[in-house]
Amino acid sequence: MPLVLTLPAPSSAAPPQPPAADAQPAALPRARRQRSGRHRRWPRLWSERSQLLERQHARIEALLEQLIDGEPCFARCQQLVRALGLHLRLEERWLAEAGCLCPGHRVSHRQAAQLAGLTPAGSAERLGWLLDLQDWFHQHRFGADAVAYARAAAAPTPLSSASR
Ligand SMILES: [Fe+2]
Repeated sequence: MPLVLTLPAPSSAAPPQPPAADAQPAALPRARRQRSGRHRRWPRLWSERSQLLERQHARIEALLEQLIDGEPCFARCQQLVRALGLHLRLEERWLAEAGCLCPGHRVSHRQAAQLAGLTPAGSAERLGWLLDLQDWFHQHRFGADAVAYARAAAAPTPLSSASR
């Protein structure tokens, strides 16, 4: 007995049409961008900025601990290097805007960036590299950063030029 396939009969109703262009909310793409964070505004006040920087500190510190305690694969180490680089640049920009970035602080960041950029290929050397980075990070966070953040918090006026 031959197998017979039948297609459903065409509907008498009109086929579905795409919505008209003007029926789509115009602000939707912008709202999506804002939710995704691509166009989120940067904080303008130091009190908000320092909170964001401290959250970055906490994330970098946690990542360092995970890599030291676990398997420091190259990809995760590169993630750490990127996170540290972004943090250092943002902190420098905001401390400079607050007038609280001294040359020594900037030099310390350069040294850390240099060290971070030398990710060892071997996992045995990588552990020593991670421990050196952790040591720098801890001392810097509770040394130069603590002093600079306190100065920025005590600055007399809120940042007026902070538009980025
Ligand atoms: Fe710093």
